[in-house]
Amino acid sequence: MGVFKREDYKLKFDFNYMMDEFIEGEGILEKELKAVDFKSAFEKVKNARGKGMQCWSELPYAKTSDIDNIIDYAKDIRRNFKYFVVLGIGGSALGPIALQQAIKHLHYNELNPKRRNGPKIYIEDNIDPERMSALLDMIVPEETLFNVITKSGNTSETMSQFLIIFKILREKLGDGACRNIIATTDANKGNLLKIAREENIKTLVIPDGVGGRFSELSPVGLLPAAVAGINIKMLLSGARYIDKLCSSSNIYKNPALMAAVQQYIAIGKGKNVSVMMPYADSLKYISDWYCQLWGESLGKAVDLNGKTVNAGQTPIKALGVTDQHSQIQLYTEGPFDKVITFIAVEKFRTEVKIENITSLKDLDFLNSSLNKLIDIERRATEYALKKAKRMNRTIILPEVNEFTVGELLMFFMLETAYCGALLNIDTFNQPGVEEGKNATYALMGRVGYEEKRKELEVNLIKNPKYII
Ligand code: PA5
Repeated sequence: MGVFKREDYKLKFDFNYMMDEFIEGEGILEKELKAVDFKSAFEKVKNARGKGMQCWSELPYAKTSDIDNIIDYAKDIRRNFKYFVVLGIGGSALGPIALQQAIKHLHYNELNPKRRNGPKIYIEDNIDPERMSALLDMIVPEETLFNVITKSGNTSETMSQFLIIFKILREKLGDGACRNIIATTDANKGNLLKIAREENIKTLVIPDGVGGRFSELSPVGLLPAAVAGINIKMLLSGARYIDKLCSSSNIYKNPALMAAVQQYIAIGKGKNVSVMMPYADSLKYISDWYCQLWGESLGKAVDLNGKTVNAGQTPIKALGVTDQHSQIQLYTEGPFDKVITFIAVEKFRTEVKIENITSLKDLDFLNSSLNKLIDIERRATEYALKKAKRMNRTIILPEVNEFTVGELLMFFMLETAYCGALLNIDTFNQPGVEEGKNATYALMGRVGYEEKRKELEVNLIKNPKYII
């Protein structure tokens, strides 16, 4: 990074093409911005900081000693294990995947050991039996540190992953099995914690008031990142930097608040879809992380007054330029129901030149670099969408590094919190997810879920006529 000046790495938010001035009749008017009671939303989020389920906002300000402990522990893991596997799902996996992809080599696991300079890393975000078998084909369990991550400590997917691995480790290592496991979970509750206490498994704590999708800057994300050799102090520093920049109630000074207000207005105008489209493979999985954050936080049946609102905006992931050849036709000419967010990278970490050494002069326009081509294609797509009067906005990262990714994560979490406050919903619960979790427990025969099972047995009956 050279001599590091935070200002050089400031995230910028370009919302020109959200505005009616550019997409006449389809955009946002200045007077519409002013009409939103964004000051109340800002105050609501600000006053709730560090309280209830809003303790995530304080994660970037964690004690240095706590961060140092994570770094020291990660160093130990890097020294002693050839493989590092995260067992978890949803908010306990998407952040680690996004960060790994953003910061590390795009073929990290395939690098030769010297260049990789750390354990191979696998993050298991599913319970597909083929995926588990495939994982077991790739690792040597005795040489693997398994980081089991679950806030609730009860999630069926994570606990089943854990049970499979625990049995294997026990068979291979006997009483030493627990040295290959670390549990990242709640300080006081959950089955994982009970087992960890009983078996003497090391634990890291997910602080109170931090929900899964807001937990990436807690040990959930920090340990896997540090094990990969990612500079987690820089990550937190980026998050603090944007957090400070967003400490104003003036929408023109607070980019996350401006972004949220615009999404709120857009939703009111029927833009029910939010497309996240980074123009960088390194940011591909930031979209997955964002989709959970935005979808699970804002998709709510009732508002805080108990009124049925069925709020939300469906997040969709796309990748530039890949999806220009798949999705852009729909975004440009399909229904006027989307806000498209591009993420632009000003400076890639490498430059790849393109040279036309053929005799075909028609290809001379490509005598340039992939860096220039990807940037031009993004701008061209922005323009095409603007011409078709489609709301689009661009988040500009000077470069992809720990600092800017920290900014990006915090930006989206703040935007989500502000938008939830504007929609007057509970941004931090997930009753829809809980319903599915409980139904799974009941159908799998978990003790205590007998009533639920009865409810399901009656309601799961289908009419065979409709299965052909
Ligand atoms: O955001 C959330 O709270 C959820 O999506 C969780 O991340 C997900 O369900 C996994 O839960 P847990 O971490 O409790 O295993």
